[in-house]
Amino acid sequence: MCGIVGYIGNEDAREIIIKGLKRLEYRGYDSAGIALLKGEDSTFHIYKDKGRVSRLQEITDFSYKSCLGIGHTRWATHGVPNQVNSHPHQSEKSRFFIVHNGVIDNYKELKSEELNGNNFTSDTDTEVIAHIIEKYSNEMKVDEAIRKTMSLLEGSYALAIIDTQNQNKLYACKNKSPLLLGLSDKGIIIASDVMALVGYSTKYVPLKDKTFVEITGINYKTLDIIGKEVEHEVKVIDIDYFNVEKGEYSHFMLKEISEQPSVIRTIISKYFDGEEVILNGDVSKAIKDSDRLYIIAAGTSMNAGYIGKELFEKMALIPTEVHIASEIAYNMPILSKKPLFIFISQSGETADLRAVLVNVRANGYRSLTITNVKTSTLAREADLFVEIHAGPEIAVASTKAYTAQICILAILAYGLSDKHINLRKEFSKLAISIENIIDKREYIETLVKDNLTKRNCFYIGRGIDYYACLESSLKLKEISYIQTEGFAAGELKHGTIALIEKDTPVIAIISQRKINKNTRSNLNEVKSRGARTLVISTWGVHEHGDQIVLDDVYELLSPILTIIPTQFIAYYAALQRNYDIDKPRNLAKSVTVE
Ligand code: M6R
Repeated sequence: MCGIVGYIGNEDAREIIIKGLKRLEYRGYDSAGIALLKGEDSTFHIYKDKGRVSRLQEITDFSYKSCLGIGHTRWATHGVPNQVNSHPHQSEKSRFFIVHNGVIDNYKELKSEELNGNNFTSDTDTEVIAHIIEKYSNEMKVDEAIRKTMSLLEGSYALAIIDTQNQNKLYACKNKSPLLLGLSDKGIIIASDVMALVGYSTKYVPLKDKTFVEITGINYKTLDIIGKEVEHEVKVIDIDYFNVEKGEYSHFMLKEISEQPSVIRTIISKYFDGEEVILNGDVSKAIKDSDRLYIIAAGTSMNAGYIGKELFEKMALIPTEVHIASEIAYNMPILSKKPLFIFISQSGETADLRAVLVNVRANGYRSLTITNVKTSTLAREADLFVEIHAGPEIAVASTKAYTAQICILAILAYGLSDKHINLRKEFSKLAISIENIIDKREYIETLVKDNLTKRNCFYIGRGIDYYACLESSLKLKEISYIQTEGFAAGELKHGTIALIEKDTPVIAIISQRKINKNTRSNLNEVKSRGARTLVISTWGVHEHGDQIVLDDVYELLSPILTIIPTQFIAYYAALQRNYDIDKPRNLAKSVTVE
């Protein structure tokens, strides 16, 4: 979702900002823009348009060096993606230039109450902020005007602001949407996430909600809304630059699918000592002390959460519920006496989850975040956090984070189980079995060509296979745009089977002995109605004619394996349709608005 990069210092602002925006491309966006100070004649210039950062590079004037600028990638919320609605936006008299990530809930009221009579050029809520800052800067100092504006805004915002009348300063502020400062001895970068800082800063400051920042050269002040200095923590960036490059792969998604065996081995190295699980004692205690777990997540992470529910209930005998973050945020169910809220999020920045976490903390309940980004807001703000160690995931379609999340959930559940399996061995077996599928990916490519010929598709399964179907169908629809449903196999006949016609692709996942026969009879039902069926099974339950047969693994962990061919199915379906695999339309990697 929207990305912000701003810079003030001695280096070339344009280069830093454009490179940073490129690094933030993975978050998803539809327009890009930049405002730069042209030092020689003290003028500011805006370049912006609908489209990719590469388009921004085409329209930007590269003939001068700039030491101050702000850049943005926009994921449209207010107004269609076009040149006018792209950021940066300007105040009415063009004194202030701003870029914004977030949503201002009361922008219409502010327009009529604060800015009656002003002329607006865009449909955005952002332009309203620029106008208000300008209005108050006529009555007070600029820093006060910005803080006054903050006090009027309801909603989420990360803002980078240039005052064209003061070229030695850059301002920023934030509430709910992520923003941080990248520090170096040559200048300061403002950015939405640490990815944009890699290569320029080794240290960064994550900003707290309702913080205002005034940057002058390499010095900065962090203040609260009333102008009182607030403490901030300086952290070290430890992202490996090469981990955020595609290398020999044609797409990040393909790279990330292929990295899954090594991610599992990394998890083994981080969380096992011999055969023993090593976990922060506070985490195990928090789970043990609770009488019910509430998993809160969205999208793929929620699909991992469903597997987590199976693991916690079957291995550790702890009742577990899974909730859609955006639903539970404003509709809390009756809770048990000692709930533990578990937030699962690859990015650790998902606004829907954050809204729940704020509520959970306000009510004094315990919280644990499972995330890939240890520097993220959800990691910082929960009582406890566990890192999944998947390495940077750049493709919008989540793959390795899903399998890593399940591994971590398995480790947590296993820690409290009777240890009737050897989890470390099971993980090692899984890594090898995944490698076997990766080696056969060209075969999966031909299956896709022959079978996924329609605009729709079904994944069916029962029990834990059904949960794997939910994730498989999400993967297929988000990058190939084939309308796909993940369905409980037995439920199809209660209505949805009406959609099956000649050649409708139906893919079954079967890895569980006790429901093998049932799912197969549901497959026969769709086959008799013309469906083109494809079966992904494990060796112990396979039948002659199953197209993809995987190794046998511990049944509760089977989604870590059955998901791999379905990730390839999604990948090849998108590749054959020539779609932008790593940046599918309308989607964002880091969903920072509710
Ligand atoms: O960063 P998070 O795990 O919190 O993100 C949640 C979803 O937005 C995310 O999983 C989304 O569904 C992915 N695009 C799926 O591939």
